[in-house]
Amino acid sequence: MADRSSTLTYLKQVPIFRTLPAGQLEFIARSIKERVYEPGAVILKQGEPGVGFFLIADGRVDVTREGQRLRSMGPGEFFGEMALMEERIRTATVTAKERTRCLQLVRWDFRALLKENPDLAVRMLEVVVQRMRESPPTHDSD
Ligand code: CMP
Repeated sequence: MADRSSTLTYLKQVPIFRTLPAGQLEFIARSIKERVYEPGAVILKQGEPGVGFFLIADGRVDVTREGQRLRSMGPGEFFGEMALMEERIRTATVTAKERTRCLQLVRWDFRALLKENPDLAVRMLEVVVQRMRESPPTHDSD
C-alpha cells in the first residue's frame, strides 16, 4: 500500500477514522509514513519520549508494561496516542509479534487532526480512558 489512493481506501475502513470528512482523510494520507517492523522489533519503548502515532495496517503487536503483557493489537487498531496527547513519555512498550506494517503520523500532524476534528478527539479520548481503566499505569517516572 505505498500510494496515497490505497492509503485513503484503507483509512475509510478504519473505525476511528472512517467518518472523517474527505479533506481530513486526504490530509492523513498525505502526512502518513509507512513503517515496516520485523518480528520482535521494539516499535516504542516505555519511559521514552515519542513523536509518533501508529495505525496498524497489517500484522500484530504486543503491548507490555513492566514486562507484563497488557494486550495484543492488529489491523485497524492504533497505539502511541497517549504520549502525544499529554506530551510526555510512553506508558508501555509495543513490540511487533509478526511482520507488521504501520502508518505513522508525527505529533504535530496528529494534534492538528484532533484540533480540527472534535468528534475524532472525543472518540480517541474514549479509547484512552478505556485503556487506562483496564490497566492504569502503576507508577509515574517523574
Ligand atoms: P503511549 O503511551 O504513547 O505509548 C505506549 C502505547 O501503548 C500507549 O500510548 C497506548 O497506545 C498503548 N497502551 C498503553 N496502555 C494500554 C492498554 N492498557 N491497552 C491498550 N493499549 C495500551
